[in-house]
Amino acid sequence: MSASHSDSLIRFESISKKYGNFQALQNVSFEIREGEIVGFLGPNGAGKTTALRILAGFFPPSSGRVFIRGLDLFKYPHEAKRALGYLPESVNLYPDMKVGEYLRFVAKLKGVPSREQKLHVQNKMELCGLTEVERRLIGRLSKGYRQRVGIAQALISEPSVLVLDEPTTGLDPQQITQIRELIRAIGHHRAVILSTHILPEVSMLCNRVLMIHQGKILASGTVGELEAFLKDREVIHMMIKERAHMEIALRLLRSFPGIEDLKATETSRKEISISFETTCDEDLRLKISKLLVENDISLIEIQRVPLTLEDIFLGLLKQGKFAQRSGGHV
Ligand SMILES: Nc1ncnc2c1ncn2[C@@H]1O[C@H](COP(=O)(O)OP(=O)(O)OP(=O)(O)O)[C@@H](O)[C@H]1O
Ligand SMILES: [Mg+2]
Repeated sequence: MSASHSDSLIRFESISKKYGNFQALQNVSFEIREGEIVGFLGPNGAGKTTALRILAGFFPPSSGRVFIRGLDLFKYPHEAKRALGYLPESVNLYPDMKVGEYLRFVAKLKGVPSREQKLHVQNKMELCGLTEVERRLIGRLSKGYRQRVGIAQALISEPSVLVLDEPTTGLDPQQITQIRELIRAIGHHRAVILSTHILPEVSMLCNRVLMIHQGKILASGTVGELEAFLKDREVIHMMIKERAHMEIALRLLRSFPGIEDLKATETSRKEISISFETTCDEDLRLKISKLLVENDISLIEIQRVPLTLEDIFLGLLKQGKFAQRSGGHV
């Protein structure tokens, strides 16, 4: 049996995927080791689900190879998949089965020896907080509990690799906290990759982050590196009342150092909305409002807004600060 040379549990090697003529993934490579919880962060349509489906052996890539614990997933699918647990984006569970019954069915499918099945399922139900709903029909569970059943089924057969596609989407804040705690607890001796488009989720849960954009890995680094990159950046948004003041306001703003991406648009109420990004480590709002007012500009609003994922991706693209990649191994 062929094994890869590295000791990583997941190795994604130069993966490309085309849907017809559409290039959904382009030369994506990364490795994940034991004990790592890696956040796969990207906006809608970036290619996260496509990559995770390939990683779960759901369909093959157009080119490239995937290794799970050193085993080539598409050469030895049966053996490699035994080491793998997968929570799909939309969990397609059997609504007419009871929770315990369903998990025992999955245990059987995954080849857990019959005398171990009961205890095994019990352990997973305890771990995922499902014991009290063992006899409930899956179709009647709340979304949060269905998600727990999805995670429990991914954990049957004790996989060393866990692939979770947007595990907290659609949950309420309390359920999100519980599912995050669960993922943290099960991540210790495994390699976990979870996709999300929620930035704080990565900071809370992961030790490393891979950023994907338009089918390419744009950046990769530790959560500490990502936070350091974000620390000094913010977007300031302001409104001025008079269209006639726009040009002079923009000219004054351009004189500030550290202002980037200056944009102005007219709103439906004929006011002018101006936004820009700043890399300055001081709060510029006071200085800016003072200068504009001194120049008789009708400033009616100025506020800081959190960076969106798109802002971050564009910032990363421009700066290449946060270990920017254009292929190769991450
Ligand atoms: N079966 C398919 N056939 C054709 N195009 C597809 C198919 N599946 C996905 N795509 C396209 O590939 C791109 C990546 O989709 P993918 O579902 O992997 O993105 P994603 O990062 O998971 O997005 P989201 O955050 O919305 O879940 C999108 O443009 C999508 O429309
Ligand atoms: Mg998706």
